[in-house]
Amino acid sequence: MLQAGDTSAVEVLMSRCDDEPVADDWQQRYKGGSQAYWDQFYRERTVNFFKDRNYLREEFGELMPADVAADPRRWVEKLASIDNQLETLSAVHSVLSRYTVLLEVGCAVGNGAIPVLRANPDLFALACDLSPVAVKLLQEKEEYKCGRCFAFPSDISHGPESQPTSEHISLEDAVPPRSVDHVTMIFVLSAIDPALYTDVFARLWRCLRPGGIVLFRDYGRGDLAQLRFAAGHWLGGDLYVRGDGTLAFFFSVEHLAVQFEEAGFEVLECEYRRTEITNRGTGLRMPRVWVQGKFRRPS
Ligand SMILES: C[S@@+](CC[C@H](N)C(=O)[O-])C[C@H]1O[C@@H](n2cnc3c(N)ncnc32)[C@H](O)[C@@H]1O
Repeated sequence: MLQAGDTSAVEVLMSRCDDEPVADDWQQRYKGGSQAYWDQFYRERTVNFFKDRNYLREEFGELMPADVAADPRRWVEKLASIDNQLETLSAVHSVLSRYTVLLEVGCAVGNGAIPVLRANPDLFALACDLSPVAVKLLQEKEEYKCGRCFAFPSDISHGPESQPTSEHISLEDAVPPRSVDHVTMIFVLSAIDPALYTDVFARLWRCLRPGGIVLFRDYGRGDLAQLRFAAGHWLGGDLYVRGDGTLAFFFSVEHLAVQFEEAGFEVLECEYRRTEITNRGTGLRMPRVWVQGKFRRPS
């Protein structure tokens, strides 16, 4: 039985010593065919799976005006829709200089971007996701029509020559260099093949202005979700595949910090956030582990 704080039991579970990694051909399918699995995920669950990430207002005060940063839990109004929508990237580019620009990568159906837009009227969100199904669901939301959000399908792990479809727009084509003040990455890097992380970081670096910050939150090593994977889901190291074909990587703070540093970023913060949940029936306490990081492109 696993108890919170029992690190040796956690290490045994993560060592997968009785487990064989998933066969290579299937690994390639999961890693290379990610869009199809995420599209199916959003076709089935539509906008009903993720909850609004209102906690971003508290955790990432950088995105907030001073009054909200001082009192992040106060009530903020929903976004009102406006008539004149920005329909094209060139129209978007022409207004960016009026705003603090947020690039939300892996935006899904907007549960990260919309709560921060509600709380900061000076923010413009460029929001992209691998899944065109998710992007369309976001575009259909009433609050999307606030005039300060532009969502587009993009694979952030690949450049202009190797986007999955002609509908996808690479970050190189969609985002002018040095135009972004903040990037948010909320549970997206864990969904990407770790072999591609260096490419992702280089792409984000290009988008950020000097002094701009990546705000990161994702699964930490030893999280309950990692410990619960049954045999047949392990791809090697800290990488797994869920039953629905989507990837899940579990980060160590040390490794993540080194990877951002190697990409040229300054590490402002990179730490585990731990909590535990208790099973009401058995009283068993189980660990939840996230990694939260802030990484700056030097001025
Ligand atoms: C676990 S969900 C998190 C969604 C959202 N950030 C949130 O926290 O509510 C991961 C998201 O990353 C997207 N994603 C996976 N690989 C991606 C890639 N290479 N480029 C852009 N988005 C990707 C998926 O389509 C999915 O919407």
